[in-house]
Amino acid sequence: MNRYAKSEELFARAQQSIAAGVNSGIRKMEQPVPLYFAKGEGCRLWDVDGNECIDFQIGQGALLYGHAPKGMAEAIADQARLGTHWAAQSELEIDVAERLQRMIPSAERVRFNNSATEVVLSAFRLARAHTGRPLILKFEGHYHGWSDEGLAGFAPPPDRWGSDEEPSRLHPSQGVIPEVLEQMVVARWNDPEHLRRRVAQYRGQIAAIVFEPVLCNSGCMEPVPGLIEEIRALCDREKMLMIADETITGFRFGAAGAQGYLGFTPDLTILGKAIGGGLPFAALAGKEAAMRKIIDGAVVHAGTLNGNPLCLAASRWCLDQVLALGDLHPAGVRSLGQDLMRGLREIADRYGIPLRPQGPGLVFHSAILKPGSPEGPIRDYREYVVRHDAPRWAHLRRCLLEEGVRAIERGLWFLSLVHRPEDIVDALERADRAFARHATEWPP
Ligand SMILES: Cc1ncc(COP(=O)(O)O)c(C=O)c1O
Repeated sequence: MNRYAKSEELFARAQQSIAAGVNSGIRKMEQPVPLYFAKGEGCRLWDVDGNECIDFQIGQGALLYGHAPKGMAEAIADQARLGTHWAAQSELEIDVAERLQRMIPSAERVRFNNSATEVVLSAFRLARAHTGRPLILKFEGHYHGWSDEGLAGFAPPPDRWGSDEEPSRLHPSQGVIPEVLEQMVVARWNDPEHLRRRVAQYRGQIAAIVFEPVLCNSGCMEPVPGLIEEIRALCDREKMLMIADETITGFRFGAAGAQGYLGFTPDLTILGKAIGGGLPFAALAGKEAAMRKIIDGAVVHAGTLNGNPLCLAASRWCLDQVLALGDLHPAGVRSLGQDLMRGLREIADRYGIPLRPQGPGLVFHSAILKPGSPEGPIRDYREYVVRHDAPRWAHLRRCLLEEGVRAIERGLWFLSLVHRPEDIVDALERADRAFARHATEWPP
């Protein structure tokens, strides 16, 4: 029996109208076929063939509040009846901005957009204008949206990633403006000494250092002790802006995001995903001094749909959920995630699968060690590529999906405010069956 027959039929049909059948390139990765969904509720999803799964992809992290949370649907519907789009001011936008100020101390001023990719572009432009310098320093393997700037040095293959000292700015797409890449400097993650040397090499030319405070787009790697402090000290000393890309960590790591969780103060913050709970909403937040060039109009920031009232109504509802939890968040989500990580590891050990879940629990990556790979945490992009067995994970991920557990294709798992202890128990029972099957089928 083909459990994905209807998805296969729809995917074949989609390819006749939608380029390659999907609306974001990465969705083509899903095996055996990009799935079509019919309904979501809480942490559960049902596809068009009627298969149910416990979802740890959770809208690529946007659905911190789960699928179709009831109060949010009402907040959006109430607003829709009053108007879906004004391209003008509303009290709602002040409500959201004031909540952000309350939650994130460095958010002295904010501006809204509809995707984090756009916000990254604004942040880089602002940093260049603020400092009068051309270059942006980013880290290898960190993802900052899909623009020419945001994807420089994101996922270079080993034969093109450059030396340890001079990581390549390689962009995975064709069609990128070559001069844009020349404005980017790439450093390896989790090596403060190397970072110091990269900054010294381009002294006086770097406008900003941008980073995912916990790297979640190539494995899941927390910063080594001292790294964040080093970024802050370098930015202060060299008069660069510190830009925290909290698209994933924002709200997931607590009301104040990873900056509250890890204890640092950036100049600018990029917020996306959970700020809109699945609606297209994103924000640039920052110190008033760092936002000055947007405030005085010297830096252009625009967008027809910025501050869209449907997105704002959803966002206000989402932020209120986080605020209402107070100190209970992120401890509750983190401990559930850690239970899941521990459970997966125990099952994997029983079947002799070298699975090594890594991350803070709020989000984690399930690396599978390649034969002969050393033990110990994976600390940077290069180790991730060299040690993680991606084809083997792809097989295990498919076994998990067929047993009703949905992780992200590249091995990441997101927890949410609606996963409950019984969902974790259920997911682990399903994972046991999936791992048993994988152990008999691998190597193929
Ligand atoms: C850290 C980070 N920054 C930026 C982005 C871009 O966000 P969006 O897809 O909303 O443009 C993403 C998306 O996954 C991300 O993970």
